[in-house]
Amino acid sequence: MRIGILGTGTLATALAEGWARAGHEVAVGGRSQAKTRNLADRLGRGVRAVEPREAVRDRDAVLLAVSSDAVEDMLGLADAPDGSLEGTPLIDPTNSVEHGVGVLLTERGESTAERIAGLAPGAHVVKAFHLFAAQQWVRGPGGDEPPVTVAMCGDDPAALGVVGELVRAVGGAPAVLGSLDRARQLEEVAGFVIGLAFAGVDPRSAVPHVPSPNTPSRSPSASV
Ligand SMILES: NC(=O)c1ccc[n+]([C@@H]2O[C@H](COP(=O)([O-])OP(=O)(O)OC[C@H]3O[C@@H](n4cnc5c(N)ncnc54)[C@H](OP(=O)(O)O)[C@@H]3O)[C@@H](O)[C@H]2O)c1
Repeated sequence: MRIGILGTGTLATALAEGWARAGHEVAVGGRSQAKTRNLADRLGRGVRAVEPREAVRDRDAVLLAVSSDAVEDMLGLADAPDGSLEGTPLIDPTNSVEHGVGVLLTERGESTAERIAGLAPGAHVVKAFHLFAAQQWVRGPGGDEPPVTVAMCGDDPAALGVVGELVRAVGGAPAVLGSLDRARQLEEVAGFVIGLAFAGVDPRSAVPHVPSPNTPSRSPSASV
């Protein structure tokens, strides 16, 4: 797939590395061209440094990997308010939480994912990749541990399918909670998981596992 990443920080770097390793083509666009070039040079093959507006052009999916208070600025740099992301799956991994304790900072009843959908008309926003530390995605698929569950939500089935594939590419198991109006609930879960992780609990134990295809299950599967 052709993936765009907006942002050059910890999560952008980890997922760029994981997706490039899985054979996807990654274009990274940060607000600082120096940091963007540095990231692309470090990761090498499969990762290009571009301007934000270039990072969202003709992409199969775009990851918005910036601090939650920067989503409006970054979407502006990518011309999202003018419809540059129309029809594109837009992954929102942001956490608007107080560092360490995980208390949600968004106003009662609001979600960052729905705010992003309002700032990027026509984009198919999918909340995903917000529950686990970035390092999780550098390990890649395989290994002895069962894959971590990437709980996600969104309104467009095709976009959920694309993001599900990108979750599997870095060793996760996708699970759809529902439509984008469930995003607030998923954002609350991040506060819970981050709070426990800071208290020393393995964050993977806080999220239910997706049964492997060979494991009999008595409940309907939410995996995609
Ligand atoms: N790191 C994790 O383990 C992890 C896990 C799950 C979810 N998340 C979420 O993913 C998002 C990114 O996290 P991160 O750890 O990668 O953060 P980070 O390392 O601090 O990187 C933040 C990125 O946002 C950019 N940025 C900040 N203000 C901006 C603005 N006004 N306009 C444009 N770009 C701006 C930064 O650019 P500059 O470098 O130029 O300042 C940088 O590229 C956050 O919402 C976080 O909650 C992170």
